[in-house]
Amino acid sequence: MELQPNNDVEKIILDRHSVRAFTTQDVSRDTIQDILSKASFAPSGTNTQPWKVYVVQGNKKCQITAQVVASVNSVYQGQVDKKSFQAPYLYYSEQWFEPYLSRRRENGWSMYKLLGIAKGDKSAMHEQQLRNFKFFDAPVGLFFTTHKALEAGAKMAIAMLMQNIMLIAKAQGLDTCPQASWNDYHQIIMPILGASDEEVFICGMSLGYADLSSEINRLRTPREPINNFVQFFD
Ligand SMILES: Cc1cc2nc3c(=O)[nH]c(=O)nc-3n(C[C@H](O)[C@H](O)[C@H](O)COP(=O)(O)O)c2cc1C
Repeated sequence: MELQPNNDVEKIILDRHSVRAFTTQDVSRDTIQDILSKASFAPSGTNTQPWKVYVVQGNKKCQITAQVVASVNSVYQGQVDKKSFQAPYLYYSEQWFEPYLSRRRENGWSMYKLLGIAKGDKSAMHEQQLRNFKFFDAPVGLFFTTHKALEAGAKMAIAMLMQNIMLIAKAQGLDTCPQASWNDYHQIIMPILGASDEEVFICGMSLGYADLSSEINRLRTPREPINNFVQFFD
């Protein structure tokens, strides 16, 4: 069933989707500042605003991309043990189980199908995975950190900040892809950013103008009907 938006906010929420191919068109510093200023009105427990955001463009972005791509390749080629790169916190559970496993698989296969990547084509899958670490060619990369002594509430707050960024960007004609794929490489990224020892890496994000000619950007993901996850009590 196609949902009909009743207003601009609903339209933006329904239009937002993860974009995985961007044009190289620059995003102005003013635009980025405007998006982040407004996004910072996200709620956070007792208004702690437990977020720090690093915006990378130009050389800094190239430096991070080059070092992370080299590390991802070294794991793929078997030169370095994957365990050398571990995320600062578990984003997923260690064991996949239903119904999450099926949804994850469907997501992956839908993406590979659009790209014409056949099941088992490890090399093509690896190349697509590497696109994450080039910010899908977006001109702007964002990294989110918090204080390492903070608990789950800080991650919830950052998630709300991220959603605000994604919606405000969309409303301004920009697109985004939230990216936990960077998390495994936080030990490479944090020193390049000059982040302090008190910070912990939470997530990354690509920001830019969508490449509308790209097949991958045609991906639209399904949602469960609310009866499958909502329980009403009178
Ligand atoms: C916190 C978070 C991290 C994500 N990490 C990645 C990522 O590393 N790479 C990627 O291609 N997509 C990533 N995604 C995008 C999800 O795959 C996407 O949100 C989901 O499939 C729903 O699709 P939609 O965003 O287009 O609605 C992430 C999403 C979230 C919320």
